Amino acid sequence: MSRGAPIRTQGPDDGGTLMDRSVPDRRAFSFAPLDVPEVAVPPALARAARAGLPEVAEFDLVRHYTRLSQENYGTDTGAYPLGSCTMKYNPKMAETVAGFPGFQRLHPLQPDSSVQGALSMLWRLEEALCAITGMARATLQPPAGACGEMTGLLIMRAYHRDRGEGRTKVLIPDAAHGTNPASVRLAGFEVVPVPSDNRGLVDVTALEGLVDEQVAGLMLTNPNTLGLFEEDIERITALIHHAGGLVYYDGANLNAILGRCRPGDMGFDIVHINTHKTFATPHGGGGPGAGPVGVKEHLVDYLPSPVLRRDEDGTFGWDRDRPASIGRLHGFNGNFAVLVRAYAYVFIHGADGLKEVSELAALNANYLLSLIREDFPAAYPKGRPMHEFVATAKPLKDATGIRAMDVAKRLIDLGYHPTTVYFPLVVDEAMMVEPTETESKDTLEGFAAALRQAAAEARTTPELLRDAPVTTPVRRLDEARAARRLKLRWDCRE
Ligand SMILES: Cc1ncc(COP(=O)(O)O)c(C=O)c1O
Repeated sequence: MSRGAPIRTQGPDDGGTLMDRSVPDRRAFSFAPLDVPEVAVPPALARAARAGLPEVAEFDLVRHYTRLSQENYGTDTGAYPLGSCTMKYNPKMAETVAGFPGFQRLHPLQPDSSVQGALSMLWRLEEALCAITGMARATLQPPAGACGEMTGLLIMRAYHRDRGEGRTKVLIPDAAHGTNPASVRLAGFEVVPVPSDNRGLVDVTALEGLVDEQVAGLMLTNPNTLGLFEEDIERITALIHHAGGLVYYDGANLNAILGRCRPGDMGFDIVHINTHKTFATPHGGGGPGAGPVGVKEHLVDYLPSPVLRRDEDGTFGWDRDRPASIGRLHGFNGNFAVLVRAYAYVFIHGADGLKEVSELAALNANYLLSLIREDFPAAYPKGRPMHEFVATAKPLKDATGIRAMDVAKRLIDLGYHPTTVYFPLVVDEAMMVEPTETESKDTLEGFAAALRQAAAEARTTPELLRDAPVTTPVRRLDEARAARRLKLRWDCRE
């Protein structure tokens, strides 16, 4: 594809939804003739009007979705350096393993005795996640990182309640990901922001002033949302413990420290793991993914039920009778196939391979920053970023009027997915970049060249950036409206 040329998908562009292709009584599938007596649907249960489903032939269906996929950009298309989101290219090996018939054909209601292999896989995965994070036990139930946060906070609440303490506040750094405060509110706590200092790290002096007997805990990701390792982490966790609180590790950035250090050793009590960021499972958009939660020994009783059990004879089963448990967070035992992918990734890499993953994640981010920092300097230049970094387009904006959003849109025309922009909120004209460990040196250099080209154009031909994107099926979207007025469902009455 020539760079900057309008995208042309193959085949006719009908432009509409599948409903627009619908023709009454057209079908994509024909059932074999009934070989059992026909039973009339009781009138009370029968539908009075048409279901309003698309009625299309198989080729309508296949072509419609194939065309849509051609308009989409994913990790199978190219690099996706969206900071914080960790959109990494996942090895297909994990998909292959999850597709093995022995995993695919299981039913969650099968008796435990017939699924011992699957339970043993879950047990080994739990053990591995605990070894990686320094926790005692884990639940594999939560279907996403955000649900893991909710799980951890409910555990925190149950722990304080059992001590007869109605603690109300949870501390969160001001650079934190939006799901953190949202989960805190959902779990019934009040959010107390902790300011960052001029290094981009938690301001420990300010934190000291915020800690009191109403603090249930602190939520932190390390490296933090600016990609910087919290150097005072042991002091921070000790401070919270001293006040009777618990410390929660948001594991979204675990791929930066895999095999090198462990949240448990830093003093964290509860950890969630975003398997889609660290262990090769697909992004779930809030689920279906997997956000396992690990806890230290003193919190094991509160884990969601059931928890996996290994009996003395080596057989596996589930412990359901657990009076202190916070209950169930998801149907059955979590998203099984997603967990199979995580298992495959962990065990195919082994301990040394996982260590290499974190090394490459940090190396890639630092190399990329070194290529672009002249045009887009690091927001906190004194710190060395780990697996991601936050740069700023402020100097470019001051010199040319071109903003981070314009650069992001121009990147699309140059064939790359944009970086995250305007997050974290504490950085002016933020561009948050996470190349991930799976991208090659060539790809990083290509992406850096595109960013540098955009910066050069901002000075010579700024309209190229202001008008971008011109190669996409739709131009600049009203993103605030798209986020606030979601329309996800076709309504047959329209
Ligand atoms: C730092 C951080 N915490 C939590 C989450 C939420 O994870 P999930 O998308 O799995 O719900 C994200 C997702 O991007 C994140 O970046």
